Amino acid sequence: MTELPRPRVLGRSPRRVDGPAKVTGTAPYAGDQPVPDPAYLHLVQSDVARGVVTSVDTAAALELDGVLEVLTPDNAPRLASTDDAELAALQSHEVSFRGQVVAAVVARTPEIARHAASLVRVEIDRLPHDTHLSADRDDLYAPEQVNGGFDTDTSQGDLERGLAAASFTLDQTYSTAWYNNNPMEPHTTTAVWSDGELLLYESTQGVHTTRESAATTLGLAPERVRVVSPHVGGGFGSKGTPHVHTILTAMAAQAVPGTPVKLAVTRQQMFSLVGYRTPTIQRVRLGCDDDGRLTAVALDAVGQTSRIKEFAEQTAVPSRIMYAAPHRRTTHRLAELDVPVPAWMRAPGECPGMFGPEVAVDELAIACGVDPVEFRIRNEPDVEPESGKPFSTRNLVACLREGAEAFGWADRDPRPGVREESGWLVGTGVAASLYPVNRSPGSRATIRCTAPGRYRVEIGAADLGTGTWTSLAQIAADALGVDFPDVELRIGDTALPKATVAGGSSGMTSWGSTVVAAAEAFRAKFGDRAGVGDEAGASMPEDDSSDEYAMHAFGAQFAEVRVHVDTGEVRVPRLLGVFAVGRVVNPRLARSQLIGGMTMGLSMALHEQSVLDERFGHVVNHDFAEYHIATNRDVPNVEARWIDEHDPHTNPMGTKGVGEIGIVGTAAAIVNAAHHATGIRVRDLPLTLDHFL
Ligand code: MOS
Repeated sequence: MTELPRPRVLGRSPRRVDGPAKVTGTAPYAGDQPVPDPAYLHLVQSDVARGVVTSVDTAAALELDGVLEVLTPDNAPRLASTDDAELAALQSHEVSFRGQVVAAVVARTPEIARHAASLVRVEIDRLPHDTHLSADRDDLYAPEQVNGGFDTDTSQGDLERGLAAASFTLDQTYSTAWYNNNPMEPHTTTAVWSDGELLLYESTQGVHTTRESAATTLGLAPERVRVVSPHVGGGFGSKGTPHVHTILTAMAAQAVPGTPVKLAVTRQQMFSLVGYRTPTIQRVRLGCDDDGRLTAVALDAVGQTSRIKEFAEQTAVPSRIMYAAPHRRTTHRLAELDVPVPAWMRAPGECPGMFGPEVAVDELAIACGVDPVEFRIRNEPDVEPESGKPFSTRNLVACLREGAEAFGWADRDPRPGVREESGWLVGTGVAASLYPVNRSPGSRATIRCTAPGRYRVEIGAADLGTGTWTSLAQIAADALGVDFPDVELRIGDTALPKATVAGGSSGMTSWGSTVVAAAEAFRAKFGDRAGVGDEAGASMPEDDSSDEYAMHAFGAQFAEVRVHVDTGEVRVPRLLGVFAVGRVVNPRLARSQLIGGMTMGLSMALHEQSVLDERFGHVVNHDFAEYHIATNRDVPNVEARWIDEHDPHTNPMGTKGVGEIGIVGTAAAIVNAAHHATGIRVRDLPLTLDHFL
């Protein structure tokens, strides 16, 4: 028997199958889903950071023509579960952060709802609040574990001895700012009740996770909740965990029987209701010998969490993986503050957690006179430093070498602050990227032959702009041994087989492995003679590779920075990232993910910062006029490439995930380049011009 040559589907770049629908405005986003005679919800938020609601006067709002209902802590339906305090909408009179929802208006039009919301009088007895994050607080605490189930603290060898014996040491503190997720599409929910069943059109990174949390909170069997989300206008993590607006919309629709209710969270409300990246303070201590070999590595990370729900960013985890050194320590401490609940934002943990250490490595490399690329290569570990596991593949060195070559690093004069071109100081810098290969068990996929040679693949996966509609279909076609156009993929609906959330860059690994297993089941059952109506399915296979191997994607980012001599203005004319991300399913989409991540990293380096007014406990720059995000003019030249890598252990495709690694290390590379340009070392983001004046 000879094997027929399989069409090459992986590694090709079909265009997004959802592209035409999106650009012609026919792709139904959650707020666009047509429902009969909807009402609209508008949220009323607390203007104090801590207190007790003593009265809510809804009379003026209810008098307005078109207002159907005003929900308050006094009349809101009781929820079945308040275990997730973030979702416990209007269940108590306590206010735990500024921006907390204290009432909600349902009206015939969005305009009436918004106006009526402004007429709701909420009296709150103020209590003293505390929103001040500092590493000097004496009430910092160690969480039981940090996100991802990682140990809070680790220690190996004897850090103090390692530092004392080192030829060169560094002890510096770095900080990253508070960042708010700002996907283009705000969080939207449309809720429709019928016969005690709830249909939610939701902008979400995971329909099944949304269903679980809505069902639990509202006290419904999960089968009685359907969540539909075929298209999502970005999420960056803020649509990966459930937030209160979804529950409120369901409650509101319950309060006006027979009327579907729509909610679009406003841009300003997003700054307190849908999660954000915690600010971090990172004390880094490093020691190395005369040759630049690290003897000691330590990171003590401080972040913030809310009073109502713990969120423990795993900021120090990447330092357990990056560089070899016998003496090591990492710790995480949290300040519990009267602030909104932090949540995921693109590469939570790795993105902030690689900032301090990758700047510190640059500082130490300069101190011991070793080139920063070479310094990293010298400290390449044989096995994952803290776990002792071998890497499934680790090609950081290849990324550094290829990047250095392509960027022209060899000609670099290491002296800082000596290159000036027409009033601009010019410098270049490098930093490493890291992101784990995450695998979430629990998905299922089915495949059905719908016409001769045509296959429908169903799985409740999500496409938040990442390209799942296309890349997962490629994986299915490859596994079935058919061509790309022969596969019709269906995702984004709990009516489809269960899928895990699009988070932690785990989508391709988790859903892809599941789809490959389903294709194998299909082929095993029907061979090459599948007839119309034949169907097979499979759950994601178990895989214990991660017990045996440390699995991570790596990268090296190079930046050119210009700082204006007189104004301190910072520009980044050139960014180059070289990544080792396993096999690339669709180069067009992968490139888009990587340069998108790098652009967001540039934005973090230069612009983004949610500014907290501690007197009131809120982010003052809560819109696009004041919360600056990099635009096209800020990023003239961003290039992403990848080395040829096929990881035999991560999953059947050999991929590693590309959604998040692009943002990891970018800010450090830019800060390092700014130092090379000016001789000024910035340790606190963002890189505003006052640092250079
Ligand atoms: Mo990503 S922040 O894990 O959705």
